[in-house]
Amino acid sequence: MPRVAVIVVAAGSGTRLGAGPKAFVGIDEHTILRHALHRVFDAAPAQVVIVAPAGREGDARTEAIEAAGVRRDLVTVVTGGASRQGSVAAGIAALWGDVDYVLVHDAARALTPPEVFDRVIGALELGHAGAVPVLPVIDTIKRVDGDLIVGVVDRSELSAAQTPQGFRRDILETAYRAATAEFTDDAALVSEAGHVVLAVPGDPLAFKITTPADLDRARSLVAERAIPAVTASLYPSALLPRVGIGTDVHAVGGEGDLWLAGLQWPGERALSGHSDGDAVAHAIVDALLAAAGLGDIGTHFGTDRPEFAGAHADAFLARTHALLGEAGWRIGNVSVQVQARRPRFAERRAEAEAVLSAALHGAPVSVSATTTDGLGFTGAGEGVAAFAVALVVPAGA
Ligand code: CTP
Ligand code: MG
Repeated sequence: MPRVAVIVVAAGSGTRLGAGPKAFVGIDEHTILRHALHRVFDAAPAQVVIVAPAGREGDARTEAIEAAGVRRDLVTVVTGGASRQGSVAAGIAALWGDVDYVLVHDAARALTPPEVFDRVIGALELGHAGAVPVLPVIDTIKRVDGDLIVGVVDRSELSAAQTPQGFRRDILETAYRAATAEFTDDAALVSEAGHVVLAVPGDPLAFKITTPADLDRARSLVAERAIPAVTASLYPSALLPRVGIGTDVHAVGGEGDLWLAGLQWPGERALSGHSDGDAVAHAIVDALLAAAGLGDIGTHFGTDRPEFAGAHADAFLARTHALLGEAGWRIGNVSVQVQARRPRFAERRAEAEAVLSAALHGAPVSVSATTTDGLGFTGAGEGVAAFAVALVVPAGA
């Protein structure tokens, strides 16, 4: 039995679209409801409760069975209410006993990619009471009084909410039982009940088909095949940790002292390179950038960046830490191994770990070192190699 249910509300009359009950309006040869359901069934398995307009329950079931394929046993159809909130309540009443997490989705957001569902489910599985997909507001927002502009609203504080909005079942049920007013969305109702709701990244394709212009947009996106093919994605990917790997090699032959693993090694032969040739630091940078999906060291620290000429590990790692933070990632940990005949790391391993970790704002860094039994370029002492693995986690998790 799935632990997740998706309530697809499709009982509205579609007044603004003006083409009859909106869920049954065609985008191409398939209806809005059918498109929405295809993507719901492409996300992780869930009970799917379709809330249909009175009198159209049979049509809704037919659409659902066709979209569900082998998942047809997961379909439930119920009759909607006079308001969206009433329709959601009807869907809640039909949830199976084993369901712990409930996503409420507008059928009118017919092109919402399956990844958005998986992202919301991922947040709930991490223990959040609720999660809502949001997009940043792009337009400058004005406060108006009649036809006069009376102020600007700081848009950095604003996000546009989409669906599916997901909640722990007990919280959603209690909030719905307690609601005395009409709310514009489920998150507002749950927040009113005193719960904290997480914002997760939404998707431009999750726009709501409200007006004829929206329908035209959906029709062109589908006709141009501009939307990703609907494929089975059984692996909730968002909000999971990610790993990355990085390696680097530098040849012996630079000026001055050796710099390796963030430490200066007086008397040891330097490595050559655009910066200080610290292969350990560079391998860590590559591993972190790879884990976060942000390219590699050349993307951010190319030889055209004079400020990194001769720079040491701390500069590279601090900048990498900032890049990850801007992209919404926290560093879990880093493990790096050096292959070198010299220097001997045993005495300074803890020191290297402390320096590298400090440059990453305290993220744990493990350093190990090995020789290669005299084999290869590291064995011959011609250069050093470093291999790093990094784990990053989404900042919201
Ligand atoms: N909805 C519902 N029951 C209602 C009203 C709305 O299930 N009584 C659903 C709609 O089918 C839609 C979603 O809630 O999927 C968002 O509502 P909206 O876009 O406003 O759709 P409609 O109410 O159908 O459109 P309109 O407001 O233009 O009449
Ligand atoms: Mg409406």
